[in-house]
Amino acid sequence: MSDTVGSALLGAGGIGSGVIAALEAGAARYAARVGRPLELRHVLVRDTLRPRRGVASALITGDLDVVLGDPDTRIVIELMGGEDPARSYIERCLRAGRHVVTANKEVMAKAGAELLQIANDHGVRLLYEASVGGGIPIIAPLSRDLLANEITAVTAIINGTTNYMLTAMAQNGADYDDVLAEAQDLGYAEPDPTADVEGIDASFKIAVLCGLAFNVAVSPDQVAREGISGLTALDIAYAEQLGYVIKLLARARLVEGEVEATVQPTLVPVEEPLAKVDGVLNAVQIEGDLVGRVVFEGPGAGPGPTSSSVLADVLDVAQDVVAGRAPLAFVPRRTVRVRPPEEHRSRYYLRITVQDRPGVLARIAQALGDAQISIASFIQYEVEGAEGTAELVFTTHHANGGALQRAIGVIESMDVVQEIGNVLPMAGAETPR
Ligand SMILES: NC(=O)c1ccc[n+]([C@@H]2O[C@H](COP(=O)([O-])OP(=O)(O)OC[C@H]3O[C@@H](n4cnc5c(N)ncnc54)[C@H](OP(=O)(O)O)[C@@H]3O)[C@@H](O)[C@H]2O)c1
Repeated sequence: MSDTVGSALLGAGGIGSGVIAALEAGAARYAARVGRPLELRHVLVRDTLRPRRGVASALITGDLDVVLGDPDTRIVIELMGGEDPARSYIERCLRAGRHVVTANKEVMAKAGAELLQIANDHGVRLLYEASVGGGIPIIAPLSRDLLANEITAVTAIINGTTNYMLTAMAQNGADYDDVLAEAQDLGYAEPDPTADVEGIDASFKIAVLCGLAFNVAVSPDQVAREGISGLTALDIAYAEQLGYVIKLLARARLVEGEVEATVQPTLVPVEEPLAKVDGVLNAVQIEGDLVGRVVFEGPGAGPGPTSSSVLADVLDVAQDVVAGRAPLAFVPRRTVRVRPPEEHRSRYYLRITVQDRPGVLARIAQALGDAQISIASFIQYEVEGAEGTAELVFTTHHANGGALQRAIGVIESMDVVQEIGNVLPMAGAETPR
């Protein structure tokens, strides 16, 4: 038996380098916790010729077979990102009897259920705390501390880039394009921001959380998704006047045994805890039948916070290795129906630009009423510099998503309607009617 617990890193980029630095800085503490020193034995990268700070060149490889050919490497830490080849590398490691720790939300969202089953079949663990919420502990609490609950809802701000942008829009009244350019300058947004601003990243994470919260398999393409690129400074200002802030919320609910999963810009009442989560911070709110509501909040990205989650998983599994403990059996995910957005019920915010003429409001109210949609509030704004044009902002009581879309179709076809601005769901307490 080796007198260390051997591990290998797949990927030594932003997060991998952070993990290497933390492993070195905390070596004595980690050895005391585990009962044996942790030993980094291989670092797999794409460019094997580039020198890496803090990594002996003898550890560098570009070949997974080198890692799998070493019987003393018991834990593989996957920090490459992306679907390919990360998914197949994780699978090969599990099949070769290696425990795997990953931060990869895309792989866990698309193939988590299958990979967890493979891990179970091969008597090893697959841990993924860092895949959602960076440094926020959320996977472990859902897997252990909240197990006694029936979880009914998960509501989360799980993309730091968009939360930074929406916070800046709310605080400075700035427009989307300006805020995006600033976020890119500061390194908070990628040169190609699509995955963040269109809600793709958040859809991966809410799919992962559905697996844990409800024990159901939800694929990211079953998540109804809308990004923030269509939002304007006007929507943010109107929401504020109504007592709301707009957040890109990832939401999942268990309703009558079926799942609703969405990522959408959503109006959140200012008094709600999630309305106060600003900048690059992330937060996940869980509702359970026993615990009520709990909120986990913290840094959702960056080498320090993400290493904190990655290394927690590494230490956990290293303790198992030392103790010779077998992993707990994995309970396969259930398959349940995922409701399409037409069947969701929510309150809604509607912004409509119209010709400012008598009778327009009555026609729109009629169209909403015909679709069984009841108006909760209404404000009319003059449009600066466009005489004869008005902006109507409605909020509704709980309504059916499909009925709302049909009513919007009717309203859009009216000759007095110039533009349907935004139609956004509203979070917060109102008993569904
Ligand atoms: N960044 C964050 O704040 C954050 C937060 C939470 C979770 N995560 C997750 O953490 C993971 C790593 O993110 P990161 O920001 O560290 O990524 P990154 O900076 O792009 O680093 C990726 C690393 O993987 C290596 N790599 C990529 N493709 C490879 C291939 N085909 N073969 C061999 N090596 C390959 C790269 O090698 P080279 O160095 O040779 O290019 C690089 O070392 C991702 O799953 C990400 O979603 C990141």
